[in-house]
Amino acid sequence: MNMRNYYCGDLNGSHSGEEVGLCGWVHRRRDHGGVIFVDLRDREGLVQVVFDPDRPEMFRLAEQIRSEYVLQVRGRVRPRPEGTENRDLATGEIEVLALALEVLNTSDTPPIRIDEYAGDASEEVRLRYRYLDLRRPEMQQRLRTRGRVTGALRRFLDGHGFSDLETPILTRSTPEGARDYLVPSRTHPGRFFALPQSPQLFKQLLMMSGLDRYYQIARCFRDEDLRADRQPEFTQLDIEVSFMTEDEFMALMEAMLRELFGTVLDTELPDPFPRITYSEAMRRYGSDRPDLRVPLELIDVADLLQEVDFKVFAGPARDPAGRVAAMRLPRGGALSRKEIDAYTEYVGIYGAKGLAYIKVNQWAAKGREGLQSPILKFLPDAAVAGIMARTGAADGDLIFFGADQAKVVNESIGALRVRLGRDLGLLAGDWRPLWVVDFPLFERDEQAGRWVALHHPFTAPKEDQLGLLASDPGACRSRAYDLVLNGTEIGGGSIRIHREAVQRQIFKLLDISDETADERFGFLLQALKFGCPPHGGIAFGLDRLVMLMTGVGSIRDVIAFPKTQTATCPLTSAPTAVDPAQLHELALRVRALP
Ligand code: AMO
Ligand code: AMP
Repeated sequence: MNMRNYYCGDLNGSHSGEEVGLCGWVHRRRDHGGVIFVDLRDREGLVQVVFDPDRPEMFRLAEQIRSEYVLQVRGRVRPRPEGTENRDLATGEIEVLALALEVLNTSDTPPIRIDEYAGDASEEVRLRYRYLDLRRPEMQQRLRTRGRVTGALRRFLDGHGFSDLETPILTRSTPEGARDYLVPSRTHPGRFFALPQSPQLFKQLLMMSGLDRYYQIARCFRDEDLRADRQPEFTQLDIEVSFMTEDEFMALMEAMLRELFGTVLDTELPDPFPRITYSEAMRRYGSDRPDLRVPLELIDVADLLQEVDFKVFAGPARDPAGRVAAMRLPRGGALSRKEIDAYTEYVGIYGAKGLAYIKVNQWAAKGREGLQSPILKFLPDAAVAGIMARTGAADGDLIFFGADQAKVVNESIGALRVRLGRDLGLLAGDWRPLWVVDFPLFERDEQAGRWVALHHPFTAPKEDQLGLLASDPGACRSRAYDLVLNGTEIGGGSIRIHREAVQRQIFKLLDISDETADERFGFLLQALKFGCPPHGGIAFGLDRLVMLMTGVGSIRDVIAFPKTQTATCPLTSAPTAVDPAQLHELALRVRALP
């Protein structure tokens, strides 16, 4: 006989009378007037097992079992006595009368609870005992959803002629804007491999090899500041194709995501996904990854305020690098002074020096007298009328203002927009995917006084803007596209440069000399000389995608063994010191630590 023939959680009334073999963990044990009840748990759920004293030997054994013991039970399924059914449990109609019991293993008292209350434990403890944390049904659900997501993505890509190909983990630096994780070479003392920040260059080389359609569920490594949606090692669904325009490729990726959401969540995503240019996204939402579920927008009012006698507004209104934006909050008049103060403090995190506002009490009936605002005294009638007309504010609304360098206004009012949306329950719609396109090719690093690539240096400029590379690089747009879902960037990609001369020109603009370019990217420049096809691709943040699909707040909740915020692993205590002999072999010496 097999060790088991059913999962605990799969039993129901239809199995009544059947003799079943079950294996699982003791979720809870209760003694009730001479009868012992055990909730036995496996990955499918719980079932109640009843131990009766008329089998004294088995009963004595059952008396000894504790939480998280591992049991093998043979028993007969029977309906629960009337009035004792448990509607909250999938198996709540039935119970299993035990006929034979084997304790396969004992367990110490677990340091965290294996139920919904485990969330009360600190994350450090949860990660140290991750194998216990992962016994919790909700964690199991998330990881299994992750498996279904990768399965559905693979099926789609396999069905569309993509090959699943692997690329090296021990490699050299791939510039994606983070620090590298380095691996010392023993055979070449003083030399290092870098772990890939992405498979970017290899997937481009595979296109040069003529493989035409590539994908990989690829681990990437980035030593950067961690946040809820960033891990030092994370997983990309990495894709590259040859001979496709960005429109064709984006349509294919949409089809993939629509199929994914249909299969895994039984949800329909829009067809097609809406698109927005980078500059429009910044103008309307102050962000290049806007959450379209929030029905609030930034509205430029600088032109109305250039002449006002209020420096806070007039300064940025006249400054070409400044921005004065208004944001109307329908029915925001109900916000208390205290709430407004809290939001003022919130935008301060993003560098805003204040948060001006106008409460619209009775504009329709009383005009100016019907407004309430600390800045009203600075605003002439024409400016007030202009603001009211442009924002379309009505009685009961509130208008917020941000005035500063454009970057500060975008970041602060952009963040306030999302915060208000969540706080006030304004989110509309479940899934709002959005392509952001027409990114600038470069960003100015003012401190270093040079250009940096907004995506990576292999992103193609728009064909008709190649001339701008020489005359006005800041104005040059790229053939990049980001996919944003509910305010999270879940993917980014582009059509790549496939001509050596253009690639060299870009390196030069990025302050990478020909010499350095040859040293760091010689293999790519060389490969571009031998008939490189036009190609492009994308990488999706798989952890982020699953995080959104499972409705959790951190990618740590959808990674089996994640790192902490400080990039450590409490389970294995990595990173650790190593044996001096190992260091010696690698020709390394650790500097005295502070
Ligand atoms: P990019 O750097 O935008 O593009 O990365 C693609 C996607 O990966 C996710 N992501 C992360 N997820 C978790 N933790 C991190 N530290 C992290 N960093 C990025 C994001 C992001 O959208 N080679 C290019 C892709 C291409 O051009 O084809 C690349 O890596 O969801
Ligand atoms: P002050 O004259 O500094 O007391 O500011 C008057 C009002 O303008 C207050 O409500 C401030 O919160 C607001 N304020 C100050 N600086 C800014 C700014 N840069 N952007 C938006 N509002 C501001």
